Amino acid sequence: MIKGSLCFDDVLLVPRYSKINSRKEVDLTTEMSGLKFRLPEISSPMDTVTESEMAKEMLLRGGLGIIHRYNTPEEQSSIALDLRESLEEQSSASVNKIAAAVGAGKDLIPRSELLVNSGVRILCIDVAHGHHALVESAIKTLKDRFANRVTVIAGNVATPEGYSDLSEWGADAVRIGIGGGSICSTRIQTGHGVPTFQSVLDCRDVPGAAIIADGGIKNSGDMVKAIAAGADMVMVGSLLAGTDETPGESFHDSDGNTFKVYRGMASIEAQVAWRGKARSLEGVSTTVPCKGSVRRILLDLEQNIKSGFSYSGARSISEFQSLARFIRQTSSGLGESKTHILFK
Ligand code: XMP
Repeated sequence: MIKGSLCFDDVLLVPRYSKINSRKEVDLTTEMSGLKFRLPEISSPMDTVTESEMAKEMLLRGGLGIIHRYNTPEEQSSIALDLRESLEEQSSASVNKIAAAVGAGKDLIPRSELLVNSGVRILCIDVAHGHHALVESAIKTLKDRFANRVTVIAGNVATPEGYSDLSEWGADAVRIGIGGGSICSTRIQTGHGVPTFQSVLDCRDVPGAAIIADGGIKNSGDMVKAIAAGADMVMVGSLLAGTDETPGESFHDSDGNTFKVYRGMASIEAQVAWRGKARSLEGVSTTVPCKGSVRRILLDLEQNIKSGFSYSGARSISEFQSLARFIRQTSSGLGESKTHILFK
């Protein structure tokens, strides 16, 4: 018997009795291995999303930004160092949350050592298929080497077995979601993947590390659904792509519209840029309109998530997760859910 699966657009949350009068009553604070975050949002470790400027804004607004690993260990640690200096002036509390990605391959130890010496306190083992022996060894290596000096995020996985194993191997947080990202082609190229919403739902009752929903989150409604399904935090790429704080130059078309590149890290463009050759393409590169500062976007997302909580009558993430009730919607329901005014 083949098991069914649901994605964000297949479900809605049922509005419930609420006594919440203002979004100020809603607290989105979440926790990852003792580290507290005022906003449950993380910017993806991708070379068109997170370097020092994005990581700084994410931290200052209460979320987390993970510096990507698609450069040399020296380049990546100098980005981390820049971030630490500029954070020391503005928010000493954020200095303990500087995060950077590492692979599970042969540069794991030298790269991690350099990063930790530059002030990184959260290491993210960033692997497309994270339920893997190499990731088991990478988590154990980092935990042995740095003990409580670093928090370890690992992934990505799509199943409760994967989530449970990574947690047992020592991960403090696990990225859940395979093939759902807006720039991913993994499911088409390999036939593998699970809708991110379903994966989170499948993991929620399994004891283990903090859950990070990752891939395919298109709007604040999807963030709300991911948290209701069991996520402690959500990771986003496309929602932040095109903002001023992303790496890369903007360019404009003949009508004067400005754009930036947003690309999957397994796209041909990204692979050629960071390792000079491409194999096993599982992502695409695209351009997105420039959106201005990420601050505005984070503020809107925060307000909308808080409104979402108030529709379920919840003041905190744990309250929301126990109150939230999902229903399935049909494709005509999805049509009704989107704005559908008739124009003449
Ligand atoms: P969104 O939907 O927020 O997704 O744009 C961002 C997430 O996508 C993952 N990612 C990839 N997955 N091929 C993939 O299959 C890729 O080239 C690729 N690049 C990024 C990653 O988990 C990220 O957070």
